[in-house]
Amino acid sequence: MKILLRQGSICPPPGLSYNMVDGRYVKKILVIYYSQSGQLKRILSRMVQGLEENSGVQCDIRAISPVESYPYPWTFYRFFNVFPEAVSLDGCPVRPVDLADNYDLIVLGYTIWFLSPAIPVTGFLQTKQAALLFKGKPVITVIGCRDMWLIGQEKMKTLLADLGARLLDNVALTDQGRSLYTFVTTPRWLLTGKKDSFWFFPKAGVAEEEIKKMDRFGKRLAEALDRDEEQGDGPLLSGLGAVNVNGKLIATERIAHRSFLIWSKLIKTAGSPCSPGRNVVITIYTVFLLTLVLTVVPMNMIIRRLVYPLCKKSIAGAVSYYEQPSGR
Ligand SMILES: Cc1cc2nc3c(=O)[nH]c(=O)nc-3n(C[C@H](O)[C@H](O)[C@H](O)COP(=O)(O)O)c2cc1C
Repeated sequence: MKILLRQGSICPPPGLSYNMVDGRYVKKILVIYYSQSGQLKRILSRMVQGLEENSGVQCDIRAISPVESYPYPWTFYRFFNVFPEAVSLDGCPVRPVDLADNYDLIVLGYTIWFLSPAIPVTGFLQTKQAALLFKGKPVITVIGCRDMWLIGQEKMKTLLADLGARLLDNVALTDQGRSLYTFVTTPRWLLTGKKDSFWFFPKAGVAEEEIKKMDRFGKRLAEALDRDEEQGDGPLLSGLGAVNVNGKLIATERIAHRSFLIWSKLIKTAGSPCSPGRNVVITIYTVFLLTLVLTVVPMNMIIRRLVYPLCKKSIAGAVSYYEQPSGR
């Protein structure tokens, strides 16, 4: 029999892990993230606003803090120096996070670095603290990135499964404008800090409108918590446009990741982070990457358009796989 409990009531039903705050039982949510420019932090804050409309929910918001901070904006070589470690999921040391006991649900906000979770987030997930925190807990992942998060989320699924966490939902916000534009606007933002629109390019980053609308997930989550739905297998946030998988990017992302695996090994072999040896291979790699972007990518776009009718079914299958668990 399913026991329904209104949060804020004076007594928890047996077997449920409600926390006491000011003499009332509330559900405690941990929102934990790593954000450099503050964009992902704003995305999550807006979600929390919706969530906290329910007085029976209490949120702890915590930032992951690497022991050695990463630059923002980035210099060219610092940016590419994190490539091999990001791809091979070598997390960095992070400071312990100040946490309460007994969270009912964890919202994990992360960005994508080279088709992988950002290194500080990987680093945190590899700590003993995370092992204790995530074991058996329901988790909602929230991604803020340029537009390539599919492989990163696959890696995240493995990291969470290793911790024994239960992934209920995934929400992904991507930068505004077409892929071709964000290929310029996102690196410009990350390397100079400039987010403004210029020439025919849109502003960099996630559209403000999308960030504002994040409260819909908080509101839905609050309703779901009210019904103890986080104790099930989810999803809690379906039908709200949690993700938008671009079928045309799936092949590009898979191919890019395969080449990332090879190049990350080569760059690692060339030397430790920021060493002259590594920087030489990074220079060769970026020239290779640029040539690829200017030649193979446009060719690939034409070929994709031609073969699209033939691959429609398999692309649709892949789209529906990556849309799980929350869907469109
Ligand atoms: C080193 C690095 C690599 C990145 N690689 C990707 C990527 O592969 N795919 C993607 O969609 N976004 C990528 N991004 C963009 C981030 O996911 C994110 O949108 C951006 O860093 C802003 O996040 P913030 O909230 O930390 O400021 C990368 C960013 C950095 C700093």
